[in-house]
Amino acid sequence: MNYSKKTVYDADVKGKKVLLRCDFNVPQDKKTGEITSDKRIVAALPTIRYLLDQGAAVIACSHLGKPAATFESYVKKQVEKGKNEADITREDWEKSLRKLTLAPVAAHLSELLGQEVIFASDTIGEDAKAKAAALQPGQIMLLENLRFAKGETKNDPAFAKALADMAEIYVSDAFGTVHRAHASTAGVAAYLPAYSGMLVAKELEIMGKALDNPVRPFVAVLGGAKVSDKINVINNLLEKADTIIIGGGMAYTFKAAQGYKIGKSLLEADRIDYAKDMIAKAEEKGVKFLLPVDNICAAEFAAEAEPVLVEGDISDDLMGMDIGPKTRELFAEAVRGAGTIVWNGPMGVFEFPAFAEGTKAMARALAESGAVTIVGGGDSASAVEKLGFADKITHISTGGGASLEFLEGKELPGVACLLDK
Ligand code: 3PG
Repeated sequence: MNYSKKTVYDADVKGKKVLLRCDFNVPQDKKTGEITSDKRIVAALPTIRYLLDQGAAVIACSHLGKPAATFESYVKKQVEKGKNEADITREDWEKSLRKLTLAPVAAHLSELLGQEVIFASDTIGEDAKAKAAALQPGQIMLLENLRFAKGETKNDPAFAKALADMAEIYVSDAFGTVHRAHASTAGVAAYLPAYSGMLVAKELEIMGKALDNPVRPFVAVLGGAKVSDKINVINNLLEKADTIIIGGGMAYTFKAAQGYKIGKSLLEADRIDYAKDMIAKAEEKGVKFLLPVDNICAAEFAAEAEPVLVEGDISDDLMGMDIGPKTRELFAEAVRGAGTIVWNGPMGVFEFPAFAEGTKAMARALAESGAVTIVGGGDSASAVEKLGFADKITHISTGGGASLEFLEGKELPGVACLLDK
C-alpha cells in the first residue's frame, strides 16, 4: 500500500470550490441528541482553517450513524430487530432520520470556527446545489448526512459525480472512513483531483512509517475480546514486529492452545489451531510472543465482582477479566527498550475499575517508554484518554475500524483513490 499521497499543501485551492470529506460521525446523547464528544470535529479544524485561509470555498460533507436510506431498508432492519412489519410506519422512519441530521454538527462547527457554517438540507438536491453555487471564497457549508442518500454506501457513480459536480477539488480528511469504498470516500476521486487533508496525512505518515520502516525494536501490543477480530492484524504484524504482546479476552484462546485450563474465560474454540500456528510461526521467525502469566479473575462478568488473582490454570468457576501483576511487569519490561510501539485493544475489562489495572499499566508503560507510541482507535484510544495518558502518546488514531484495517495491511479505498506524490 502506497501511503505517500498528495496533501492539501500540494493543491492550488485559492478561489476554488473544495469538497471536503470529514468524519463528523460524532457520539450523541440518545435522548437529547447532544454531541457528547466533539473530538472528531476539532480534529478537522486545521484542514478547514487552512482551506478557508487560502481562499477556498469549502463544501464539507460527512455521514452520521447508519441511517436507512430508504423506507424499505428501514423496514428490513426493524424486522431483523424483531419488530412486527405491520407496526412500522413512514413516520417512524422519518423520525429515525431526523435524529441523524448533521444540523447540530453545523452549529457546533460554526461555534468552533467563529464563523457561519451554511447548512444544506440535502446532499445533491436543489438546496445543496444552490448553496454550493453561491458559496464564496472563505465561506464554508455543510451538506446533510450523506447516508440519507442511497447512492452513498453503494458507491453509486451517479451520486459520486453529482457530489463532485459541486466542486473543483476533493480533499479527504475523514481518516475514520478510509476503509469504506463509498461515493464520498472513494467514488468522487474518479471525477476530481483528490488530496489528503492534514489529519489523513498525519495518520498515513505516522502509521505508515510504523508499519513500513519502524524504529526498532518494534513492539505490537494487541488486546480486546476476540481473536477472530484480530487475525489479519496478527498475521500482518508477525511479518513486521520484533515482539508481539497479547492481552485482553483474546489471550485466553492462546492460553488454551498452550494447554492451560481457562475456566469460564472467553474461548474461541474454532481458533485454537490458528493460535497454535501463530505461536509456532512466531518462534520460527524469532518474534517474541508474550502471553499473560497471571490473571485477575472473577466468578461473574460484573463491575462489583470480587477480583481473584490466579497463576497457571484457571478453575472452572472463574473467568479471566484482566492481566495480573506479574504480567503487567512482563509486558512493561518488553516495551521498555522499544523504538516503536503500536497498541490496539485493552488488556482487560477496563470499563470496570477493579479490572482496569492491566490496561492502565500498559498505558503507563507506553507513556514512559520514550518510543514512538501509536494507539489504534476504538477502545484502546478511549482507555488511554480515560486513564489520563493521552498527552504522553505520540499518536492516537482517529479511526476505529480504519486503523484496524490499516494494521492489517489492507488496501484502504479512501487512501488508494488519492493522488500519489
Ligand atoms: C467510525 O465511526 O468508525 C467511522 O465514522 C466509520 O463509521 P461506519 O462504521 O458507520 O462506516
